Amino acid sequence: MTAPSGRRLPRAVVCDGTGAVVRTMAAGDEAAILAFARGLPAHDLLFLPRDITHPKVLAAWVNEIERGAMVTLLAVREDAVVGCAAIVHDPLSWSPHVAELRVIVAPGLRGKGLGRILMEEAFSVAVSLGAEKIVAQMTADQVGAVTAFESMGYRAEALLRDHVKDRSGSKHDIVVLSHDVAAVQARLEAYGLGQGDAPP
Ligand SMILES: CC(C)(COP(=O)(O)OP(=O)(O)OC[C@H]1O[C@@H](n2cnc3c(N)ncnc32)[C@H](O)[C@@H]1OP(=O)(O)O)[C@@H](O)C(=O)NCCC(=O)NCCS
Repeated sequence: MTAPSGRRLPRAVVCDGTGAVVRTMAAGDEAAILAFARGLPAHDLLFLPRDITHPKVLAAWVNEIERGAMVTLLAVREDAVVGCAAIVHDPLSWSPHVAELRVIVAPGLRGKGLGRILMEEAFSVAVSLGAEKIVAQMTADQVGAVTAFESMGYRAEALLRDHVKDRSGSKHDIVVLSHDVAAVQARLEAYGLGQGDAPP
């Protein structure tokens, strides 16, 4: 199958010395995603608009994929989901030029390069869908996530105070990071570099 980025998926990747496969999510992946989501610390899920440990939310997610408002990439190892990246883009909204990335990696595999692989793949999908600006949001205390996005050229754009409530009722700040694809592209072209010459 060809991802919207034009790259052939599934794609074999190596992370932490062993292989994984990156592919698009399909109907039938719900149980594996649910197992993945339920194995994550609850705090790691707060950046998502809805709690994906609920089967109903997962069903709505599949609907979004089917109506074309979302592309989801999965990193799979031995039939288990170990990472996930969603690209949310609605060409009928007032922000048809904006895409949102949502990325999450299994805690035991973090810091080993899988997040970067998924973020780059998702970035490529977003650009191929016409995104000129890409945003990502996360709780402000997710140092790894903020560092990972900043290392790929995203910059903090907004801080939403006390924006999400965890299951115990505590509130947390959300930081919104963005990547101005068009500006970066213009800068690369000014230096005589094309789209394929530099990482996002
Ligand atoms: C964001 C996330 C997906 C990154 O996944 P990952 O597999 O750990 O990322 P990588 O190992 O590919 O690291 C990417 C970059 O971030 C840096 N990084 C990752 N974790 C870090 C940490 N805890 N502290 C400092 N830097 C960190 C890496 O050094 C790497 O930089 P480099 O490529 O320049 O060396 C992961 O931290 C996660 O799932 N977080 C919880 C969910 C979340 O908040 N997601 C963001 C919402 S969109």
